This record gives sequence, C-alpha cells and structure tokens, in this order.
Amino acid sequence: MNVQAGTDVSRPIGVFDSGVGGLTVVRALMERLPFENIVYFGDTARVPYGVKSVATIEHFTAQITDFLLQQDVKMLIIACNTMAAVAAHVVAARARGLPVLDVIEAGAQAAVEASPGGRIGVIGTPTTINSNAYARRMHELDSGVRVYSQACPLFVPLVEEGWLDHPVTRMTAQEYLRPVLAEEVGSLVLGCTHYPLLKPLLRDVAGPGVRLIDSAVTTAELAAERLRESGLAHGGSQPASYRYFVTDVPLRFQTIGERFLGRSLGRVERVDW
Ligand code: DGL
Repeated sequence: MNVQAGTDVSRPIGVFDSGVGGLTVVRALMERLPFENIVYFGDTARVPYGVKSVATIEHFTAQITDFLLQQDVKMLIIACNTMAAVAAHVVAARARGLPVLDVIEAGAQAAVEASPGGRIGVIGTPTTINSNAYARRMHELDSGVRVYSQACPLFVPLVEEGWLDHPVTRMTAQEYLRPVLAEEVGSLVLGCTHYPLLKPLLRDVAGPGVRLIDSAVTTAELAAERLRESGLAHGGSQPASYRYFVTDVPLRFQTIGERFLGRSLGRVERVDW
C-alpha cells in the first residue's frame, strides 16, 4: 500500500522522540502551522536513547515508525536527534513514500546558512556526537565549515529535573562548552531536543558572539515547505487536533510536557507495548 496515495490533507503529521523533548518541535509546528493536526509519540518508558547502542535505537525506531503509520500520518518528523543520527535509514525504509524530515537535516542547514565557511560548534548526546552525523551533513552542504563537537550527557537529566537556570547547570555548561568556545565558533547547534530549554543559560555562557541554532524552528519551516511542495498542506479555519501517545504512565510526561510545550497538553494516551 502506498500511504501517500491518500489525498486527505487533514491526516496528521507524525512527530516522534525518545520522550518528552520532541515537544519543542511540536511547539514550533503549532506556531508555524496552526491548522495541521499532529500525532506525537514519546517513548517515555525507554528514554534516554542517547546512551544506548545503535542496534537498540534502530529497533525502537522501527516500532515507533510502524505505530505512526497505523495512525495514518501524512508526514513523519524525527524530532529526536539521537534517532535521526543513527536510525533515519530505518524510518526512510519503512515510510512507504511519505515525506520524512529530521532535526539533524534542519539543524545542519540552519548552521551552514548562519556561518557559511565558518566555525560551528555542535552539542548533543553521546550517541549523536559519536555518530558524527551533524559534521558529516554540514560538510556535505558546505565543505568549508569547521565543526567542533561536544557530548553533553548531563544536560538531559538536568532539564528533566527542571534545573533550567540553576548554578549546577551553569557550571556544567561552562565545563562542557569550554573546549568548543576555545575554537571561537560563530554558531552553536543545539543538537538535542532538550537543549532549547537551556537557551537563556547557554546564551549567557556562550556570550553574544555565538549564535545558537535551534533545530525545532527550522524543522517547522522545512515541514511547511515540504507540505506545500507535496500538496499536503492543510489550511482552513478549524482548530487543529493534537494526540499524544507515550509508553510509560502519562503523569510525568504531562507535567514536564507542559513546560516544553508552553501550554496544557490535554489527553495523553498510553501505548501498552
Ligand atoms: N531526544 C534525545 C535527543 O534529541 C534526548 C533524550 C535521549 O537521550 O533520549 O537526542
């Protein structure tokens, strides 16, 4: 079956992440595309992915992709940098011709546009940084850029704890960013779903000369472009509908999610795998 053959443009966009962090992408989509329906999947029972093996992440990614295809989505957005770094091929192979976007493509494009031929820093989970996916993509787009990468494994738990402006988070950021800043980067890619919540603190630590690249906003821009090009854009005056699926009991997702989304979530459904 070719899913793209369906012409109903009101079908939702499927957005997925290892947990709650991908809601930063949902938020950007809601602002940029207010009439698009969205189905979100957060694998809250198995998060974090950023410290797991590639084989495990590929397996989880396949399961999530198949679940969203059953929800009759019209586009898939990999909102998790870790899945995008090591398992984007799994999504592409199963997507049955649907458009697939991911945050690494969006972040890499935004970074090279902001710093053509320049010096770019990338921060992310250990799996994302070890994969070298950002640096590879940026070099494909612009062979003149110099990329300096740094894994920041403590940022995800600090954000989940809500320590967005806490002395411990500030010290951690100073420590992680020191080697990247020493390279006098002009832009810094926030290569993890959780990092946009640390933007004010990271801006302080990085200083005014460093531009922070938030792939959530660029992903929403790219999604708008792809929907328009493929004739799948949904306009109109009806308020959009949003559904959220998680794999653990929804309470924690609900609480932290509202911080990510900046609005109340409504009903969150649990998938029993
Ligand atoms: N969603 C992951 C990412 O963007 C961060 C959380 C995790 O490690 O699963 O890389």
